Amino acid sequence: MYYHKIDHPKNFRVAALQQSEFNTSVDTFDTDTFRITVRNPRWSENFSDMLGIVQATPIETVCSYELRFEDRSMKIRNTENKSTVLKGHEDLLFGVCKEKWLFCFELQDGDRFYGMGEKNIGFEKHAVRTKFWNTDVWADFAWSDIDHGSTDPMYASFPVLLLKRNDIWIGFMIPTSSVVFMDTGARQMIEGAKQATESVPFFYLGAQSGSPDMIISVASTAKDIVSRFTKLLGLPPVPPLWALGHHQSRWGYATVADAAEIDKRLLAHGIPCDAIWFDIDYLQEYRIFTRSETPSMPQSSRQRKLVAILDPGIKADGYPIDKELLENNLACLNSEHLPYIGFVWPGASHFPDFYKPEATKWWKEKTAELAKTGFDAFWVDMNDPSTGSMELDEMCFDDGKIKHHDLHNWYALGMAKATWDGLKQAYPDKRPFLLSRSGMLGSHRYGALWTGDSISNYHHLAKNIEMILSMSLSTMAFVGSDIGGFGSDCSDELIVDWYRACLMVPLMRNHSADGTRRQEPWAFSTPVMNSIKQVIRMRYALLPYLYSLFHNLSTTGEPIWRPMIYESNDPVFEHETGQFFIGDALLQIVKLKSGETKRELVLPEGLFLSLTDGTQIRSRTTIDFSKTPIPLFVREGSFIPIALVEDRLIATTADIDLSKPIMLYYPGSAKHAAYTYWYDDKDGYEKERSINIVADQKDNDLHIKVSTPCTLAIAGKIDGNIMINNKEVQAVKKRLPLEGTHLSVRWVCL
Ligand code: GLC
Repeated sequence: MYYHKIDHPKNFRVAALQQSEFNTSVDTFDTDTFRITVRNPRWSENFSDMLGIVQATPIETVCSYELRFEDRSMKIRNTENKSTVLKGHEDLLFGVCKEKWLFCFELQDGDRFYGMGEKNIGFEKHAVRTKFWNTDVWADFAWSDIDHGSTDPMYASFPVLLLKRNDIWIGFMIPTSSVVFMDTGARQMIEGAKQATESVPFFYLGAQSGSPDMIISVASTAKDIVSRFTKLLGLPPVPPLWALGHHQSRWGYATVADAAEIDKRLLAHGIPCDAIWFDIDYLQEYRIFTRSETPSMPQSSRQRKLVAILDPGIKADGYPIDKELLENNLACLNSEHLPYIGFVWPGASHFPDFYKPEATKWWKEKTAELAKTGFDAFWVDMNDPSTGSMELDEMCFDDGKIKHHDLHNWYALGMAKATWDGLKQAYPDKRPFLLSRSGMLGSHRYGALWTGDSISNYHHLAKNIEMILSMSLSTMAFVGSDIGGFGSDCSDELIVDWYRACLMVPLMRNHSADGTRRQEPWAFSTPVMNSIKQVIRMRYALLPYLYSLFHNLSTTGEPIWRPMIYESNDPVFEHETGQFFIGDALLQIVKLKSGETKRELVLPEGLFLSLTDGTQIRSRTTIDFSKTPIPLFVREGSFIPIALVEDRLIATTADIDLSKPIMLYYPGSAKHAAYTYWYDDKDGYEKERSINIVADQKDNDLHIKVSTPCTLAIAGKIDGNIMINNKEVQAVKKRLPLEGTHLSVRWVCL
């Protein structure tokens, strides 16, 4: 498998989709969202049907755009003004080459491309050529590429492509487990040739196997497309609140004594942390489902959750788990019907075949048993799957009947689902939390993903931000990176900047490789540790806002981190990743270079309030990172629910009261604003609750209607009276009790 080469349309036979040879259907799935599927004996399987990737069913709906096949091509046009927004390539809309297929479309000047999930090839992606194939980056690439952050493909595959064409967005999604390829107008060439480069006026996308299946959606913002695609694949569940806290991990944590030591240090330094993570050393010689120690620390005697790693590679030495795997025929087999062998941490290893229901059930029961020994959640790793120096082709599924390539990208999802079910079995009253390294479309239904093994340098910090923003546009919103970077030694400056950039990242986990400089906050000088602590405490204060965003994600598909182009089509934001929105209301600008002191913040329309000092700004302003270390801005007409954390020792999210937030409101020049704050019991399946709040500016007065009494903190200028639920109230001037900010507000306790 060559990672950097992909198929070219010239090697495909042009096929007219309307011909009887192909049984083509176009279904509507949501507003202006069309799914083209082709059935033909050439392809025995539709992978989406086989694996349940698309979860929605077609609907009848009135659309503003129509998809029409014309001769050998295809058009999407506006039903009212008849303008064409997307045109298939005239001579080659659809091509086939044995099991491979592709769709090819005309490119226009100024086209911009986004999404593609976990990719290292820039945020805006025109003129790129890429493949979707889950890799184990450190095992599969040269160190120079790893260090430089130029590896592609990476651990997870999200074949979602968003095209911005002036003020129109067109989304493409290929719901398959097979290998997908995309080319957005890259040059075709041979490296080193002087003239033989060909720039093509088209872009194309296709897959190497499985029946053709592509979803196309048209909208005026990226936002609509992301929501539609996420809904099509199934909305994600809300994680337990503790999963959104700060987590401490390191390759090397292995025993209850290690966890107790971390717990002690966290308490001594007053650093909030909800979970401590065990890496592979907790296992007996890396044997999955064993523990190097017993008894375990009981839940009752600890404040924090414990999360343990699980790899799919089962040591092929006949230990009881390996014996069970083989005796029950649960392993992946090769073409000779022998159990496939790969080489991972335990050495020669067998791999469970998650495609077989019996294997999934077995894994589920094993994880449930292990969880009961004292683990609250699992971290599924090496599930790309990593097989070290061993070729993957011979790792087949379903007793050797399904070839590896067809399910390669799905393997991680299969493992995640089985583990998720194990957690549900162990703790039926709790909502599961799981972190996976690899994944594909649909992985968002089973917890979080992280960006894998990064390096402690600024280049990787910037790349990780880009990747998280791109994954957020590609249906995978619950994401994080190893804070501080995984490999190499993290500097004092970098650890602070990485934490600051990740203030509101969906998953906040500090993790590092064995042998590198210790990366716990107290491993740095006291001023550095205090800066980190400030970020973490600020996050805990903002958790009600973040948690409510997760509730919103679970009903609308709207991601947590949102790049500037998510809602704005202003070309000024087309390449912007150094500033982004967290939900609708908060905008953050991040320092991404060592020694960077100042950067220009560019705002979309409207007024914004600096949480640092209360200044109100519009348009552009220069941010001085020395004066504003965590530059956060509130958009006018926004509410932010905040937990009271200041002056209190917060050890974990158990110390946060979600039901009584301080509701910060910044009216700016907005005449009307409405917000629903969603919360629940932090875990479990009790019904979610909400506080609904509406604000109207009439004459000079501010009228607020709130469904449940709470504390209001109103920022900015108000000339008239404040009326709450039709009664005039007296507000006191006060500083907003949010660490790292100096904001004067009008404080009203209801
Ligand atoms: C892989 C993981 C990393 C983990 C290590 C040891 O490299 O990506 O997070 O620490 O394996 O288990």
